[in-house]
Amino acid sequence: MPKIIFILADGTRQEIDANVGDTVLDGARAGNVPLAGACMGSMVCCTCRVEVDSAWLAKLPAPEPREEAALESICEATETSRLACAIKITEDLNGLIVRIP
Ligand code: FES
Repeated sequence: MPKIIFILADGTRQEIDANVGDTVLDGARAGNVPLAGACMGSMVCCTCRVEVDSAWLAKLPAPEPREEAALESICEATETSRLACAIKITEDLNGLIVRIP
């Protein structure tokens, strides 16, 4: 199971074992990580926005148009922002580090 590392807003590090095929948001929920995800993955709320560690950013597949549009239009996105509900967990993402703003 790939490990996903969340850095919470207060700097606390929370590590979870995630299922391949789930999203990072699914993993956060299963691991009791405080990440809202109010629209349940519909990509309209931005409450699952995370900042991806710069070393990992290039390893993620590029955002699909729907995620990109949400990031540009409704999220206060930075260059490292992604939606946790749009990142599918793969074995290659073992050790992924994301920060919760
Ligand atoms: S859960 Fe709402 S945008 Fe991801």
